Amino acid sequence: MASSARVTDYRGFPSAQEVIARCLAENPEIFPPPVSEWDVGRAELFNEERWEPVFRRMRAEAPINKVSGAIHGDYWNVATLKPIVHVESLPELYSSSYVHGGVTMHDWPKDMSLDLALQSFISMDRPDHTERRRVVAQAFTPSEMVRLTDEVRERTGRLLDSLPEGEEFDWVSQVSVRLTTAMLAVIFDFPREDMDLLGFWSDWVGAIEAGKIPEVTQGRTRAKTEMADYFRELWAERARQGERNDLLSRMIHSDALGDLGDIEFTGTMTTLVTGGNDTTRNTMSGLVHALHLFPDQRTLLESNPSLAATAVPEVIRWVSPLVHMRRTALADADLFGHEIKAGDKLVLWYISANRDESVFDDPDRFWIERPNARRHVAFGYGIHRCVGARLAELQLRVLIEELLAKRVRVHLAGEPQRCGGAFLHGYHRLPVTVERY
Ligand code: HEM
Repeated sequence: MASSARVTDYRGFPSAQEVIARCLAENPEIFPPPVSEWDVGRAELFNEERWEPVFRRMRAEAPINKVSGAIHGDYWNVATLKPIVHVESLPELYSSSYVHGGVTMHDWPKDMSLDLALQSFISMDRPDHTERRRVVAQAFTPSEMVRLTDEVRERTGRLLDSLPEGEEFDWVSQVSVRLTTAMLAVIFDFPREDMDLLGFWSDWVGAIEAGKIPEVTQGRTRAKTEMADYFRELWAERARQGERNDLLSRMIHSDALGDLGDIEFTGTMTTLVTGGNDTTRNTMSGLVHALHLFPDQRTLLESNPSLAATAVPEVIRWVSPLVHMRRTALADADLFGHEIKAGDKLVLWYISANRDESVFDDPDRFWIERPNARRHVAFGYGIHRCVGARLAELQLRVLIEELLAKRVRVHLAGEPQRCGGAFLHGYHRLPVTVERY
């Protein structure tokens, strides 16, 4: 333990997913039934992988529609690509701010307690967002990506070499989680001996929809507090070391992020740790799932490794690891013929827009040569478009390249277990075996 901050001994501690599953089994009434067929803000729809036909129908029949009286209150569904891009292009009209409800369809309580509110640049509007993002963006420039490439390749290759052949193991915990937490540790220059904590915190803090379950809320609060305490200590230590080029150091020596109060500090670290972790992790797991479901694409990739780079945006489109973002209208507006009122909540369903058949041919198909895969909105659009997108793409490209270079083929050995819900689209477990061909 590199820090004296008090942290849970996460080994043997139940994961957020396990606690959620137990609480729901004990009390299935926690989440009342959907109020209509378009009430799609439901974890089970995604965890049970039933979302595709519902959104296909919504795109055809009512791509913009309003739901009233749901567990997440009243909200507009925006299910196709064009209106999502439109909404995200107007940040002065459609706000991300935590003051109006933030970026998830789950509403924070009005008192915005430290426990629940996410005060961070992802949930801020201009001008507060601008300077804060600029500081963080320095860690993800193209030249930084070049600097990190060898390290990412070496680490990925070493992990692939260590995988047992012909023996069943869980790809999520053994590969996806390890690669993404190690990457975050590099970005922050986080103590390597404690880096599993990043995955543990991210798992708990990311369980936003289970905020209706008191045990999960307590777990999230504990994880957030521990994470903030740990980073505070690391921050103080790093501040004594002068300027370096890790992300924490860049934040310390900036005007915009160098002196944050406790609430925003916690929110900012939460955004960076979960943003950089769950999304990329779930895409790495989705890659294996996609190659299993579409064996012709696996054969194509193995016979032509130069397609690794073009496969990356297609994997991200196909997985869409971040299901939605939310905006709140600050004034009355017309949205493609729909009357939006000031204060209305709009849910931008990236996962559906990425299957928009008016943009993507045969959208449910995983097709590594898809000519316009880059048009996906899995990273969002506009001023909040994912600041870590290049890093995510780098990690995925290197993983695909190393699988091909080392001639490692991953086979699914059982049914994937889903997790996440209507915000994160992910994999809890992915049983696999590895073959070296
Ligand atoms: C496949 C992987 C990833 C996906 C799909 C993804 C997706 C997203 C999305 C949808 C947004 C919000 C965009 C919007 O509101 O318009 C976002 C923002 C953000 N992401 Fe990512 N992300 C990924 C990887 C990463 C990584 C690796 C990092 C950092 C290490 C990261 C850090 C962030 C941050 C800090 C923001 C807030 C940006 C802002 O508000 O200006 N993400 N991401």
